[in-house]
Amino acid sequence: MESKLRILLDYSAKINREKNVDKILPILADLAKNLINADRCSIFIYDKNKNKLWTIVAHGVERIEIPADKGIAGYVFQTGKEVVVEDAYKDPRFDKEVDKQTGYRTKNILAVPLKDRYGQTIGVFQAINKLNADNFSKEDLDLLRHVALYASTTIETKDLYQKLKKAHEDVIYRLSHATKFKDPETQNHIIRVGLYCAVLAKEIGWKEEDIEIIKLAAPMHDIGKVGIPDRVLLKPGKLNKEEWEIMKKHTIYGYEILKGSDSKLLQVAALVALEHHERWDGTGYPYGKKGEKISIYGRMTALSDVFDALTSKRPYKPAWSLEKTIKFIKENKGKHFDPDLVDIFLKNVSDFIEIKERLKDEEPELENIPRDFDFFY
Ligand code: C2E
Ligand code: SIN
Ligand code: SIN
Ligand code: SIN
Ligand code: SIN
Ligand code: SIN
Ligand code: FE
Ligand code: FE
Repeated sequence: MESKLRILLDYSAKINREKNVDKILPILADLAKNLINADRCSIFIYDKNKNKLWTIVAHGVERIEIPADKGIAGYVFQTGKEVVVEDAYKDPRFDKEVDKQTGYRTKNILAVPLKDRYGQTIGVFQAINKLNADNFSKEDLDLLRHVALYASTTIETKDLYQKLKKAHEDVIYRLSHATKFKDPETQNHIIRVGLYCAVLAKEIGWKEEDIEIIKLAAPMHDIGKVGIPDRVLLKPGKLNKEEWEIMKKHTIYGYEILKGSDSKLLQVAALVALEHHERWDGTGYPYGKKGEKISIYGRMTALSDVFDALTSKRPYKPAWSLEKTIKFIKENKGKHFDPDLVDIFLKNVSDFIEIKERLKDEEPELENIPRDFDFFY
């Protein structure tokens, strides 16, 4: 018992240090394995769309996927009951298929349900083959139940976090597109600019959190266009001098909307809005900032935004070919664009293309609207 306590303490220290939820489940599987002397442990999670159980963690094997009503795991999932199996091959509930595929010989199984806080079964924690005895004990089942409780909480937290993150992204993308009825830019343009910046940030070696920040901040670059009057924003052709002076203010308007928050994301977004039309050689706007006076966030967004604007159709210009766009960016290395970022761009052009292809622009909604105007004819 003393050694078990030791194991528990070691692992709880590990778990407490671990901030990444994805890494906690493997630690819990190891903990269970050591604690009850099982040869293998696996944690199955239910996938509603496929109606299958799949192993988010499994010792000794690749990911396993089983129908949600097959085998011992399926039985536990369906009934919400714990199961102790002494000899798997004598138990009609056991599915020999998995052993057949893995070449493993299952003998004993302990399996307990993972339940969410409403008592709904969300998965199964399973231990296979007792190592130093013929069978698992009552105490083993007790211990496994405790580890499973921890695993349930971990899975639920991860799930809530993912939902929150998705809602967060959705709000940012939608509000960044607040001018959707007026500006020809698409929602996907906004998303793509963030993803290109993430490619650059990853290449520079930023940590995950900072990549995530620029990915979500860059899409807000044009948010200040909500302050631009329709006669300018909607103008089909070239802007005159007076109109251009107004258009340039979208940078400062965006900065004013986003500045002053405690959130690093919004601080970065404010800078991006302010600086995304500055140029490396100091000829940009609104302030003509030069070189590294322009934040790295502004410099990344400038390159990403122009790459996407050039390869897209605008009312005032056709879409440029990829060759022409790349040539333009090369020619503007050290002029419009940060030369180091241009080099990184050129090395990773295939990632940019992949993003552009994957998130194509749909038919612009504004072009569909005229059908409602049949009335006039
Ligand atoms: P946008 O359409 O998203 O373009 C973003 C940036 O991509 C432009 O910033 C510019 O740096 C680059 N870009 C886009 N099209 C071209 C092009 O045909 N040639 C070159 N060399 N670069 C191009 P910029 O110029 O500061 O413009 C900012 C925003 O002002 C544009 O965003 C667009 O909304 C508006 N805008 C710019 N020029 C015109 C225009 O002639 N007519 C109208 N109606 N709007 C314009
Ligand atoms: C089952 O749940 O019946 C399959 C057990 C295994 O993973 O080998
Ligand atoms: C980072 O946010 O990770 C780095 C920012 C910078 O290089 O200025
Ligand atoms: C758009 O309408 O697509 C761009 C406007 C913005 O980003 O605020
Ligand atoms: C314009 O004058 O309409 C655009 C100028 C520029 O792209 O810098
Ligand atoms: C502003 O006041 O509009 C911008 C100030 C700055 O350059 O940070
Ligand atoms: Fe802009
Ligand atoms: Fe843009």
